[in-house]
Amino acid sequence: MVDYTEQQEELRELAREKNALIIAHNYQRPEIQDVAHFTGDSLELSRMAAGTDADIILFCGVHFMAETAHILSPQKKVLLAELKAGCPMADMITAEDLVKLKGEHPQALVVAYVNTSAAVKAETDICCTSANAATVVANIPEGREIIFIPDRNLGHYVEQKTGRELIKWQGYCPTHEYITAADIRRTREERPDAVVLAHPECLPEVQEIADSLESTSGMIRYARESAASSFIIATEMGLNHRLQKENPGKQFITPTRKAICPNMKMTTLPKALATLREERYEIRLDEEIRSRALAAVEAMVSYT
Ligand code: 13P
Ligand code: SF4
Repeated sequence: MVDYTEQQEELRELAREKNALIIAHNYQRPEIQDVAHFTGDSLELSRMAAGTDADIILFCGVHFMAETAHILSPQKKVLLAELKAGCPMADMITAEDLVKLKGEHPQALVVAYVNTSAAVKAETDICCTSANAATVVANIPEGREIIFIPDRNLGHYVEQKTGRELIKWQGYCPTHEYITAADIRRTREERPDAVVLAHPECLPEVQEIADSLESTSGMIRYARESAASSFIIATEMGLNHRLQKENPGKQFITPTRKAICPNMKMTTLPKALATLREERYEIRLDEEIRSRALAAVEAMVSYT
């Protein structure tokens, strides 16, 4: 049983009155994760948004995530708790950039990380998240050219995992690129017993020395099932809250305190409350863009 603060109680009560589902990404502030009905990685949150019978989805995360929820569930009111919360990586490629790249590789299939705008998704064949990127690519017939956007590091991970060569866009997550291989080596020297879990948005040299590469919920599963008792967590620091909460007897070590996503931290309890109370910041798309993006997003949620 969770002990809610007054504001958390108020948010839950408002959600009950309005038949709203509060969903939060694993990087959200602790008090947001604790009040949410469901916390997860990008793939789990998309599936949750597609399957719920709530009238309103209050999305605590960043813009592309709420857009994806709207693409999958246009009949629901999708509210982004903080409208200014974007993703710098998603902003590194525009639909015009992608159309130009497709023009240079007319036979290529386009695989886009879900961290992209809806306009980019509308030009995409299939979307993926870090949890299923390698499976999505492995299922494309051999010999077919593949454009992979926008994350060069996730692209590198997929290349290593599948042995396929990708035409990679050179986008990246600034938060994950703050984590260096030197940070991991130093932390490992201090804690040689710890298992290193890294997100595939990390640099290739970090990926190489990690014990396992996982999505955020993949790390949660790994930590739960592992016999090890300490872990070095190479991803955004917000994940440590859930890891620690669900595994009180285990220790989670941060290799650098720089790994904070400022956009993920923009959502606060007062903002989430105001958003739901006023039903503000509704995410809606032009129907032409939404329906063109739908097939790529539906394919994404079908791959585990
Ligand atoms: P996942 O939770 O899907 O691993 O995504 C990480 C991320 O950076 C989301 O913006
Ligand atoms: Fe974007 Fe990185 Fe923040 Fe995720 S952690 S929202 S990829 S900037």
